[in-house]
Amino acid sequence: MNIVKKLIVLTALLSAAGHVTAQPKMIPNAGIIPAPVKIEFNSRQFLLGQRTEIVCQPGEAKPAATFLREELKVRKGWDLPLVRLGKVGGSCISLELDSHPNDSPEGYLLKVTADRVTLRAASAAGLFYGVQSLLQMVAAQSGTNLASVILPGVSITDAPRFEWRGFLLDESDHFYGKQTVEEILDLMASLKLNRFHWHLTDDYGWRVEIKSYPKLTQIGASRNFEHTNTPPQFYTTADIREIVEYAQQRHIVIVPEIDMPGHATAATMAYPEFGEGGTGHWAGFTFHPAKPETYDFLKNVLREICDLFPGKYIHLGGDEVWFGNRQWTNDPTIVKFTRDLGYTNSVQLEGYFNRRMARVVHELGRTPLGWDELVAADADPKYTGVFWWRQDKTNILTEAAARDYHVVLCPRLPTYLNYVQDDFEKVGRRWKKIFNSIDRVYDFPDKIIADNVPAGKEKNIIGVEGCLWTEFVPDRNRAHYMIFPRIAAIAEGAWTPAKRKSEADFMARLPAFLRELDRRQIPHYDPFNPLPSLEPAGCTNQDYKLPPTE
Ligand code: ACM
Repeated sequence: MNIVKKLIVLTALLSAAGHVTAQPKMIPNAGIIPAPVKIEFNSRQFLLGQRTEIVCQPGEAKPAATFLREELKVRKGWDLPLVRLGKVGGSCISLELDSHPNDSPEGYLLKVTADRVTLRAASAAGLFYGVQSLLQMVAAQSGTNLASVILPGVSITDAPRFEWRGFLLDESDHFYGKQTVEEILDLMASLKLNRFHWHLTDDYGWRVEIKSYPKLTQIGASRNFEHTNTPPQFYTTADIREIVEYAQQRHIVIVPEIDMPGHATAATMAYPEFGEGGTGHWAGFTFHPAKPETYDFLKNVLREICDLFPGKYIHLGGDEVWFGNRQWTNDPTIVKFTRDLGYTNSVQLEGYFNRRMARVVHELGRTPLGWDELVAADADPKYTGVFWWRQDKTNILTEAAARDYHVVLCPRLPTYLNYVQDDFEKVGRRWKKIFNSIDRVYDFPDKIIADNVPAGKEKNIIGVEGCLWTEFVPDRNRAHYMIFPRIAAIAEGAWTPAKRKSEADFMARLPAFLRELDRRQIPHYDPFNPLPSLEPAGCTNQDYKLPPTE
């Protein structure tokens, strides 16, 4: 008997016995995004409502239990009792930390039966992800009745495919502020994404307070992509600490990016003595690579960054240095420095700069990361991770994996979310007319891995990331519209094993996620009813000639 028939029979039986009369909606994978590794439906159903107790041991299980309780209060208005294990009276949701329920540190087991929901995990993160799945099941089943929700009986065994499940937000080109960042962190957590790559510095704005160099924010934060004289917009050290804690509570590591030696204009406008290279529109694009003072300055900045961000990773950028290093040969001190090092050109000097700064981060006790230019720079693969973004240069991915770099896949096609998602859109990027529709995003990353990663080197691909670059994203509403719901497709590629993925199944689960975005008042694109309503007026990239990438 198939599951639908079983549920119909069971509901009839329960109804005859005076129990639950309604039945849960049959939604693939119980409405969970990303789809879990394994899900089996059983013929029971659980009535979740005001009288359900949440049960947990004191200690590490408590934050996930409290999170569940708070979310159900906000979403349903229920004030469920939180009780200690062993004191349970009626039907309950029980959260248990268990040393070996699953062999993944972020995995969990979730079982829904008639009188109990049991969630087990080996870590607080695993319990948190189990809670996210449970909340999605509740959202998928929710109707207008606030008094109760009927959950289908399931047994779920789940764990992530990739360790790195990331999202990049560029706040240099436009600044959105704490509330928008926290909205994004909440939704990342619901999709089990765990790395927030925060692009805090670039040409159009420096967005993090550095106490030793106040002009970085006094001058470097007073601009954005459109305007050169705005009030300063940046995060104070207190803001950063608050956001870091907010992310930690959601099991998200914040990865700050301090871009160098290029994309440095905001910094070199504040401290011109550390800049050299770039002309015209790109004046001040690079840090001066031959002055000892530049390296001292950057090391001091990175020390403060390490103090603000407790996570293991610091991203050093390293991309598109070409816009600035073409002028390095005009500077006699750089020419001499290049020659003294035994090099013959600026690209070799760029490599020296990148290797030297990666070593600084390593010596500060953190893992240096950079864009895929770090492969040509020959940064040390023993401790440096690279982000493959140039989808037109597949040889770099192949080389990086072959040389045992840890690689995060974030190719422009299909993971750049500033690329438009529908043909009608005018504002946003395309690559030779190709854009990043949700189905293209969903169809990632397996073909890229199969076609370009040498056999036996697949383990070097540590994860995937969606990126929102914000030149043409002037405000919070447009940012959300570009991120959601495509980030859900990225999340499924990051978490769900390739053989469990199905676009049709994903699209059947998406409406509940879109309803959840509406509940949170998050503007989003709707693939079922596409409308160009959020295109920003007066901001079209047709007016801008974006430079070639090299
Ligand atoms: C990049 O898009 N320049 C990494």
